[in-house]
Amino acid sequence: MQICLGSSCFSRGNREVVAFIRDYLKKNHLDDRIIFKGARCMNLCSNGPNLKINDRIIEGVTISRIEGILEKEFGDIK
Ligand code: FES
Repeated sequence: MQICLGSSCFSRGNREVVAFIRDYLKKNHLDDRIIFKGARCMNLCSNGPNLKINDRIIEGVTISRIEGILEKEFGDIK
């Protein structure tokens, strides 16, 4: 899983989303199974903040949506 840390996504809220994801992975003991890292601009800035999971880009990742996205993606393996 990669999160865009380009300036547009970062200023639109990915800074808070990074903290939330780290916490979520740790809390659910997924941090040793899921690789989570930062990425450069994905060239989809106007639809950001963006997140990439298995080469699929998820757009509009706000702090209010992130928990639902993670539950949908990883809820069955935690
Ligand atoms: S800054 Fe995230 S897509 Fe450009």
